[in-house]
Amino acid sequence: MRRACVIGWPVEHSRSPLIHRFWLKQYGIDGAYEKEAVRPEALARFLGSLGAQGFAGANVTLPHKEAALRLAAVADEAARSIGAANTLWFDQAGRLCASNTDAYGFITNLYEQAPSWNDARWPVMVLGAGGAARAILHALLAEGVTRIFLANRTRDRAEALAQTFGPAVEAIDWQDRNRALSGCGLLINATSLGMTGKDPLDIDLAALPKDAVVADIVYSPLETPLLAAARARGNRVVDGLGMLLHQAVPGFERWFGVRPEVTAALRTHVVASLGAA
Ligand code: ATR
Repeated sequence: MRRACVIGWPVEHSRSPLIHRFWLKQYGIDGAYEKEAVRPEALARFLGSLGAQGFAGANVTLPHKEAALRLAAVADEAARSIGAANTLWFDQAGRLCASNTDAYGFITNLYEQAPSWNDARWPVMVLGAGGAARAILHALLAEGVTRIFLANRTRDRAEALAQTFGPAVEAIDWQDRNRALSGCGLLINATSLGMTGKDPLDIDLAALPKDAVVADIVYSPLETPLLAAARARGNRVVDGLGMLLHQAVPGFERWFGVRPEVTAALRTHVVASLGAA
């Protein structure tokens, strides 16, 4: 039996088992996907014995994503550029390899839900400067986007990302976020604002062109207040669930040897559990 797991601290909230167990069943694979609660100080030892414990690989979630990148023997370009890893596996030589599939998940979902998002190559507005924002900036730049406004409550963090990712990324003041929407073709919320139990995202969409796309990384609720407001004024919207589902694809393929599909049935399965949570 092949086994994989998600490693976090805490790990209880992780949706990854829901996704991978659905696929294991769908493809009739003799495999298991487990949750492993690992304290930060125990991560190095845990990863050092990952293979000996019988795991083909793992997902890594908070707060271990940066440490996992450091501890891996090999890291791909996405993980290095984002500075964090969420997917681990072993190569033929038995070395621990790391990738970050959040950028892949984001962009795959964006193309799926809004295929023409990049036609006009207008400026893109990204809100937030945490790990999710890093993955999204990496994805947008890889797609050839040449102008990105980055607004974050703490401007220094936006400035630091602009430094890292180069001249296409321009940090702007958080209080300028509404005004700067004028002319934007894509707005992305990469903060946790709007999530059930968190503060709402305070934004006025009045200046945003009606044919712009609005995407949210938050998937609980599935239709965030941002997406509801965007939909009401006629903008195409992209919810955060697709990013979560698509980021799981490369890991499953590496561990279990089948490239799984993100289907309506999987969406329904995960949405039902979000509602139950
Ligand atoms: P991640 O999980 O993506 O790594 P994080 O580091 O927790 O995220 O960051 C969450 C994002 O939400 C940050 O951009 C944060 O802004 P700061 O850098 O100023 O902390 C943003 N955020 C959280 N609460 C916020 C609020 N009340 N208003 C504006 N932005 C907020």
